[in-house]
Amino acid sequence: MPEDVQVAFNAGRPSIARIYDYWLGGKDNFAADRAAADRVLAVYPPLLRMVQGNRLFLSRSVSWLASEGIRQFLDLGSGLPTSQNTHEIAQAIDPGCRVVYVDSDPVVLAHGNALLRGEGVAIVAGDLREPRKIIESAAVRELIRPDEPTAVVLALVMHFLDPDTARQVARQLVDWLAPGSYLVICTGSADEDVAAEMRREYTASSTWNHPRDVIKGFFDGTELVPPGLADARDWVPGAAPRPRAPQAVRALAGVGRKP
Ligand SMILES: C[S@@+](CC[C@H](N)C(=O)[O-])C[C@H]1O[C@@H](n2cnc3c(N)ncnc32)[C@H](O)[C@@H]1O
Repeated sequence: MPEDVQVAFNAGRPSIARIYDYWLGGKDNFAADRAAADRVLAVYPPLLRMVQGNRLFLSRSVSWLASEGIRQFLDLGSGLPTSQNTHEIAQAIDPGCRVVYVDSDPVVLAHGNALLRGEGVAIVAGDLREPRKIIESAAVRELIRPDEPTAVVLALVMHFLDPDTARQVARQLVDWLAPGSYLVICTGSADEDVAAEMRREYTASSTWNHPRDVIKGFFDGTELVPPGLADARDWVPGAAPRPRAPQAVRALAGVGRKP
C-alpha cells in the first residue's frame, strides 16, 4: 500500500472517517473521535439526520444507476465499511457490478481490506485530490474499463477540498469518464454562521462551505438528472424537487450524466 497517500494513524487525533463512523452509529472510533464528534453535534444536533440522509441518497442513487445499466463504480473517500456498502447496493441489482473504493485513512484501508472483498471489489489507498493517480492505479485499471460508462461517487468529501481543488477534481474525473457515465455528489452545506461555528469545533480537517452555485459547477460537463441538486433526503431519480422548510445545515446531492 503506498504510504505517501496515507494519513498517519493516531488514535488520539480525531479522524474524518472515524468521526463519521461514530455519527452513523458505528464502532470503529476512539475517545478522541467521539469527543470531537460530540462537540460538532452540540452546535447543530440535527446534523445526524443530514449524515443519514447522505447514506440514503447514496443507496438510492447507486441502486438506480445499477438498474440503469451502470456496471462499474468508483467510490472516492469511501469511508469505513457500513451497512450497506456501495458494492452490496450495486451487486444486489446485478452481481456483475464492479466497485473500487478509494480512501486515504489507514483505518478505512485496514477495515476495508478485511470487509470490502469479493468478486469485482477492491479498495485502494489514494488521495482524491489526485484523480489521475487513482485512475492509473492497478486496481482501477483491473476493474474499471475506461471506455464503458462508470459512476464516480463523491459522497460527503467535497467540503474537505477548497473550491478550486474540488472543481479541478470533478473536471478531471468528468473528462476521463466515457459518455453515458455519471457523477454522483453529495456535499455538506450550511448557513454561514452555523458553518463557522462547526468549522471551529471540527478539528479533524479544514472544511469549506461551498455555495450552491459552486456545487452546481462541480457537475460541469454533465447534465443533472431530475430533480437536480436537491436535499439528499429528497433526491429521488426523476422526481420533481420537493419543497422543504429551510435547514441551517443540509446535504446537497445530485447526479450528473455525461452525454
Ligand atoms: C465523511 S466520510 C464519507 C464516507 C462515505 N463517502 C459516505 O458518504 O458515507 C469522508 C471520507 O473521505 C476520506 N477522505 C477525506 N479526504 C480524502 C482525500 N483527500 N483522499 C482520500 N480520501 C479522503 C476520509 O478518510 C473519509 O473516509
